[in-house]
Amino acid sequence: MNATLRFDDSSITVALVGCGGFIGCHLLRALLERTQWRIFGVDLDSYRIQEFLSNSRFEFLSADLAEPAVVERIARYPVVVNLAAICTPGRYMAEAAEVIRSNYNHPAALADACAQSGSWLIHFSTSEIYGKTAADSSALVEDESEIVLGPVTASRWSYATAKLLTERYLTGLAGLNWTVVRPFNFVGPYMDFMPGVDGEGIPRVLANFSTALVRGESLKLVNGGVAKRCFTSVHDAVDFVFCLFANANVAIGEAFNVGNAENELSIADLAQMMRLVYASIKGKSESDVPGIEVVSGEAYYGKGYDDSMRRLPSVEKALRLLGFKAIVPLKVSLEESLRWFIGHYEV
Ligand SMILES: NC(=O)c1ccc[n+]([C@@H]2O[C@H](COP(=O)([O-])OP(=O)(O)OC[C@H]3O[C@@H](n4cnc5c(N)ncnc54)[C@H](O)[C@@H]3O)[C@@H](O)[C@H]2O)c1
Repeated sequence: MNATLRFDDSSITVALVGCGGFIGCHLLRALLERTQWRIFGVDLDSYRIQEFLSNSRFEFLSADLAEPAVVERIARYPVVVNLAAICTPGRYMAEAAEVIRSNYNHPAALADACAQSGSWLIHFSTSEIYGKTAADSSALVEDESEIVLGPVTASRWSYATAKLLTERYLTGLAGLNWTVVRPFNFVGPYMDFMPGVDGEGIPRVLANFSTALVRGESLKLVNGGVAKRCFTSVHDAVDFVFCLFANANVAIGEAFNVGNAENELSIADLAQMMRLVYASIKGKSESDVPGIEVVSGEAYYGKGYDDSMRRLPSVEKALRLLGFKAIVPLKVSLEESLRWFIGHYEV
């Protein structure tokens, strides 16, 4: 792998697995706009990337990463970004075995193929691998934090366990050039779906609250919404991946948090902030916007629900090694996301 991938080098092709998802569609757009590279994209879905399908630098394969022939084809490319996963909390309880296959078996097979071919595998893991962190926990440090996952009976942890095992597999696999990305709650346009319109089940919190606001229904706060998260713009996430591309020599063999510690707030505060942003976009008063309703985690997500109370990233390593810092304020991301959601779904 060259120390630096030149963005004007038209001989480079990058494989983008999960290119049709939330992060994938933003990364695909940025790759087409900011580089001269070719992109080989794989996904089960393409509804977010219709506008790119006719681009001569983009080849799309509608296929399942579970297929060995698909894995073999992806690993022919020198750089592979793997975003494909089942990653909505609503599915961690009801479909734990499938969640584990998706977040361990498939990426492990891809890692084997990349180790064989010599490709650089940039794998999207999760901040959930830090486990069941307490409300007073300190910043999570990539190569230092101790990890405690919830009990096996709490199948909420199926996703985190599988992602963590994948990280251990990548680090232990001889000959693999790997980089691990641990996202801290990315937000932006195109996140998830509106239940009953273009998806089923429970989306992640941004789409969940956006759906409630657009439908005029109360925002459901699971267990009072006391858990805290650091919401991070998907545009910062895309810029981070570009920092990786530009610094392959230091990025290979490292795991990075990608999060905005300055955007930390509780889910209850997020709900209230989204109500106010929605009111402002619609020119309504706060009292005319749907209110908040507290529900229990088990009642909302089903048996086996559990949670971590705080997830604060240390951002020092990404700054030190790559010069990267997430900069988009939460209010800016929420305005952008809600405007997009309203434009896309509100009739
Ligand atoms: N968005 C976040 O805040 C966040 C947080 C933590 C981790 N991550 C990780 O980042 C990655 C991307 O997340 P996202 O938010 O874009 O998710 P997403 O669900 O929007 O996108 C994932 C894409 O992968 C595709 N996919 C799933 N299984 C596949 C398979 N077997 N074969 C081919 N395609 C398949 C899906 O169709 C989807 O388009 C995931 O690995 C996720 O675990 C994201």
